[in-house]
Amino acid sequence: MTKDRVLIFDTTLRDGEQSPGATMTHEEKLEIAQLLDEMGVDIIEAGFPIASEGDFRAVSEIAKLAKTSTICGLARANYKDIDRCWEAVKNAKSPRIHTFIGTSPLHRAIPNMTMDEMAERIHDTVTHARNLCDNVQWSPMDATRTEWDYLARVVEIAIKAGATTINIPDTVGYTAPRESARLIERLIAEVPGADDVIFATHCHNDLGMATANALAAVEGGARQIECTINGLGERAGNTALEEVVMALKVRGDIMPFETQIDTTKIMHISRRVATVSGFPVQFNKAIVGKNAFAHESGIHQDGMLKNAETFEIMRPADIGLSASSLPLGKHSGRAALRAKLKDLGYELADNQLNDIFVRFKDLADRKKEVFDEDVLALVRQSDTIEDHLRLQELKVVCGTGGPATADMTLIIDGTEANITATGDGPVDSAFNAVKALFAHQARLQLYQVHAVTEGTDAQATVSVRLEEDGRIATGQSADTDTVVASVKAYLNALNRLIIRRERSAPGEDTKEIRYTDAN
Ligand code: KIV
Ligand code: ZN
Repeated sequence: MTKDRVLIFDTTLRDGEQSPGATMTHEEKLEIAQLLDEMGVDIIEAGFPIASEGDFRAVSEIAKLAKTSTICGLARANYKDIDRCWEAVKNAKSPRIHTFIGTSPLHRAIPNMTMDEMAERIHDTVTHARNLCDNVQWSPMDATRTEWDYLARVVEIAIKAGATTINIPDTVGYTAPRESARLIERLIAEVPGADDVIFATHCHNDLGMATANALAAVEGGARQIECTINGLGERAGNTALEEVVMALKVRGDIMPFETQIDTTKIMHISRRVATVSGFPVQFNKAIVGKNAFAHESGIHQDGMLKNAETFEIMRPADIGLSASSLPLGKHSGRAALRAKLKDLGYELADNQLNDIFVRFKDLADRKKEVFDEDVLALVRQSDTIEDHLRLQELKVVCGTGGPATADMTLIIDGTEANITATGDGPVDSAFNAVKALFAHQARLQLYQVHAVTEGTDAQATVSVRLEEDGRIATGQSADTDTVVASVKAYLNALNRLIIRRERSAPGEDTKEIRYTDAN
């Protein structure tokens, strides 16, 4: 059976990064872009260049480093945005400008434009973008709540003005599969010129239907799916790349479409995005959740041992999960650790391996078996983030009948500082000690603890999200001691905030520009 090709447009670095708290550092954005390029993503939406200096710099550098992906930037429907976007993407081997405007009644009311005024604006801005770049995508934001006649009218205008891709966003996750398919079908059938462009689908997951809606749109004729790794994105997120790609692969019998994604790279990029965005993947998440391939019940295990297909519709190896996950122990050497890391998708330079090996030995002394998740937690901790603040020593005394006391020594920009602080429990006292040693205004938005594996000697992974003057940073750390992991995660988040403060030209990393502004 011949299969139609579906383009994968990844917007983890734009729509995903827009999710409050998911902000990534510059280096992290470049790393994720490189992984997306390597896994065969057709189009990477690398950012919103006018939003901040940081976004502009990230999009420009990603444009230069991408080997095969088309690099796209987002722009509102005005010349300034479009010019800035072109500046950022123009050095890519294959650049694209993506310009949009909200076309539904609610969105039209924000810039207070009449239907005719907006139609004229669409004509002018798409024409302007097309004069700069051969590859122009246009989106009527909130398309699924736009009146049919108006939607058909503005899609035709955008096509006539030179758009090469028409994206139909379900901005608020409102549509349902049959409606999603029908909308694309009808646009292709009724809008003059529709055969000359590619239709794309961009779904949000507010009702949990983003994957189903995207696949239905493909059945209706869309040939580009917009998605993010782990479904990252505002509110309930976007369509998850791993879900649509694996659905098309596994059910090629009823959905005769193919992508060029190397699915064996899915697990690695999923873990990296979870780490750098600070948004952990839920355990039962389809495809990439910790439990997606776990078979705990007796009946399942019995069936799996007889024939893996009894309960598995895809193999773990298809998404890059190693089939065997034998734990390491304190006698495992550097070569075994290197092999395990390679299995998990990490090929590290010798100095990085040495660093992780020292911490692996330390962990193996405290913990009988070191599982894959433990090794991954060690890798996450070695993420290169400048250490302005580092934990040197911590002793906590706690118990019933009084406040906890934390005696802490920090290295602050190379200088040792010590204090004893009290608090309501061990973590509170330790965080109070950090605040006393390093005064700051950052507000704790999230504190989350997960056990990496089972057992009372399990490592705890802690995520801390801090907010300061609109800047948000998430820190993570793991340790067999939950309080130590908590302090290290807190310091990690503070270090990220300090770096953002230092790097911020006015406006950098604070997305002051609202997506609903047309001007
Ligand atoms: O959800 C949406 O409508 C968007 C547009 C900017 C394409 O992300
Ligand atoms: Zn969106």
